[in-house]
Amino acid sequence: MPYVRQVFTDAFILGSPLFRIVCLKIFFLFFIIYFIHLIPAINIYYFISLIMEYLSDRIKSLSVSQTLAMAQKSRELKAKGLDIISLSLGEPDFNTPDYIKEAAKKAIDENYTKYPPVPGYNDLRDAISRKFREENGLNYTSDQIIVSAGGKHSLINVILSIINPGDEVIILAPYWVSYYDQIILAGGKPVIIEALIENDFKIEPDQLESAITGKTRLIIFNSPSNPTGMVYSGDEMEKIARIVENHEGLFIISDEIYEHIIFEGRHVSMASFSFIHDRVITVNGVSKAYAMTGWRIGYIGAPLWIAKACNKLQGQFTSGVCSIAQRAALAAIEGKDNSLQIMKEAFHRRRDLICGLLKEVRGIRLRVPQGAFYVMPDISYYLGKSDGNAMINNSDDLALYLLDKAQVAVVGGDAFGAPKCIRISYANSDELLVEAVKRIKTALELLN
Ligand SMILES: Cc1ncc(COP(=O)(O)O)c(C=O)c1O
Repeated sequence: MPYVRQVFTDAFILGSPLFRIVCLKIFFLFFIIYFIHLIPAINIYYFISLIMEYLSDRIKSLSVSQTLAMAQKSRELKAKGLDIISLSLGEPDFNTPDYIKEAAKKAIDENYTKYPPVPGYNDLRDAISRKFREENGLNYTSDQIIVSAGGKHSLINVILSIINPGDEVIILAPYWVSYYDQIILAGGKPVIIEALIENDFKIEPDQLESAITGKTRLIIFNSPSNPTGMVYSGDEMEKIARIVENHEGLFIISDEIYEHIIFEGRHVSMASFSFIHDRVITVNGVSKAYAMTGWRIGYIGAPLWIAKACNKLQGQFTSGVCSIAQRAALAAIEGKDNSLQIMKEAFHRRRDLICGLLKEVRGIRLRVPQGAFYVMPDISYYLGKSDGNAMINNSDDLALYLLDKAQVAVVGGDAFGAPKCIRISYANSDELLVEAVKRIKTALELLN
């Protein structure tokens, strides 16, 4: 090594100026590479920034689903052995009923294993058409039905089919997280109307009227609501329907995926107001009602030209959705056992339980929801408070604080356009709900 160094030094001193410059450049290059590797943060940042360069603007503008992110975080903590109670995910805690699972097994044995038709099997679309007629009073022929990979997929199909860049889409906050980002993905502009807790998280017709401009193409309406659990009455919906009627070229997506989970009142379909039937796209699916979140089956009933557009889009995107899951969905929709009723009764009991317990917690304000399996308490009392360590500046801070201190996973309201609230999913056992609220209460008492 000393010999090599001597040769190099002699060559450097005795060599030409050009040789010295090249040596110095090589030395500095190695020095910079070495320095970057010494600092992992710089290193990682450098590579991330290189990769980000190549991502499309479309994907860069999307945010990660906060509900899924929180669920992932609590799964990771559970895997590390922490006793996390997860109240963050919008998913029934029941198993798919047996008669549905049997139908899927039979479908495999009967070789439902080939590409299914893009809009769904005919008999499934017929069954959905019948369901719409019998349960909702809606007349959609089978070719107005498109089956997709979950309600989420149905929604993006519709949005991509009718929204042009720059079109305005009205959503009612608190809204389900994916509406916002799906509109962004289509190049649309989300216009948010705030439904206040004082008004039971429902909008006033005037608010809607004054949010509509010449550029408004679509309203997304959701009752029973995720995240608030609120259910609009027929009268309240009719007022909204009248406004839509008066604005030519304005459409409304009615997301009715929680229609079967209602404890008070009854579900009304937006398209049942005949004067706007041709301007409503009804979105529904089997995920929530039949505890089939993993099977990924959603569907729409829509004006024929919109159904055809979704079919065209789906034909280039996913093709027809999983053949086995479609056979299971057919069994679910036609099924006549009482599992739906049993699940609904359990959610009803848990709603009463958790709302009763939360009302006892200092500083929490809530409205008792009439449907779905969520409750959305207002936590603004805790904003600006601290336990001497963590500072609660917003609802996400509070969600993280509860995860850390109470080991209970909930979702901050920011992602739902409700920065003063958190969303709690009570699709969990009675015992764990009692334990979760006990822990939440203890953790919140430390905030002053
Ligand atoms: C309001 C609302 N719409 C649609 C969906 C999508 O359901 P799916 O699981 O069928 O995609 C969800 C799921 O959480 C939801 O809460």
